[in-house]
Amino acid sequence: MDKEINLLQEIDTPAIIVDINIVKENIHKYQRYCDDIGIKLRPHIKTHKIPALAKLQIEAGAVGITAQKISEAEAIISEGGINDILITYNIIGEQKLKALRNLANKVKTSVVADSSFCIEGLSKTFEGAKEALPVLVECDTGANRCGVISPQEACDLAELINRSPGLIFSGLMTYPPTSQAQKINSFLTNAKKLIEAKNIAVNTVSIGGSPDMWKVKDIPVATEYRIGTYIFNDRSLVENKICSVKKVAMTVLATVVSTPTKNRAIIDAGSKVLTSDLFGMNDHGSIVNFPELRITQLTEEHGTIVSEQNTNLEIGQKIEIIPNHACVVTNMLNEVNLITEEKKIKKVKVIARGKVW
Ligand SMILES: Cc1ncc(COP(=O)(O)O)c(C=O)c1O
Repeated sequence: MDKEINLLQEIDTPAIIVDINIVKENIHKYQRYCDDIGIKLRPHIKTHKIPALAKLQIEAGAVGITAQKISEAEAIISEGGINDILITYNIIGEQKLKALRNLANKVKTSVVADSSFCIEGLSKTFEGAKEALPVLVECDTGANRCGVISPQEACDLAELINRSPGLIFSGLMTYPPTSQAQKINSFLTNAKKLIEAKNIAVNTVSIGGSPDMWKVKDIPVATEYRIGTYIFNDRSLVENKICSVKKVAMTVLATVVSTPTKNRAIIDAGSKVLTSDLFGMNDHGSIVNFPELRITQLTEEHGTIVSEQNTNLEIGQKIEIIPNHACVVTNMLNEVNLITEEKKIKKVKVIARGKVW
């Protein structure tokens, strides 16, 4: 925030702006928090999708990174410097499995699975590999996404993994619901006990999510935290009081292109930049320094700003928007404009953009 106005004037719009000073602050603050409570940090790169930022996270002390998709993982390791990846997605299908084997030849790779179907594919792919593939069982602790729905099923799959050639069970993983620490801890603790009773070690219990990032201690069974949005923060985290506006490192810069009435202005950022993701909120982002203005409507290339009073916006004026959800916005443009420590603009390619395969 509070970037020098002149600097922003140099940037053509619509554009993504990333302030490296705030990025570094966010990375180091959260690393310190994890170090203090004794939990490993494994940041999710789906928020920034930029190798240089992943490397900053590793240099600060992260044990490795998380990627959601195999192509995202390939892209993020392409510049070197990243040696440990967890892919938190069921890898299904021959092409992806082949790519996974290639990836595992390059960097330490682990994956998750929540079905015997998935485990069978992984096993066929890694049978005979020099090193067994570590597999975590994904557990649905209440988010109603992927994951086994009972501790007993988690235990059954852990045993299956360890019976499967080419694989080794390495722990439990969940994408947890927010504010349900007790339920999450009890599911994972029960699963861990059942698995350990079979003489199988549960080395990792991986949880995550920015909304509960300051409440990790409420889930004592966890050994690892995966977190993505914290590097940039966004409107959802500001509105939920997880961070202050000053800690938002990524914004969208837009230009006012029309002022059809005194209380309506149109900007050049529409759904192809801000996305249509409301993330449970009203409106399509908040405008820095203009709390009274609302972005009430988006079409592909146009954003509509309204105000009960005069918007006081002028054609040609640039405004900064805090997007509702940072992770989807970085998937929309090829590059971000990094504001460096020297207050220069550096264009940086979003290498893992569009890598949803
Ligand atoms: C597998 C997984 N881990 C961790 C996260 C945490 O992300 P964030 O910190 O952005 O909430 C997500 C979010 O979608 C996820 O899908």
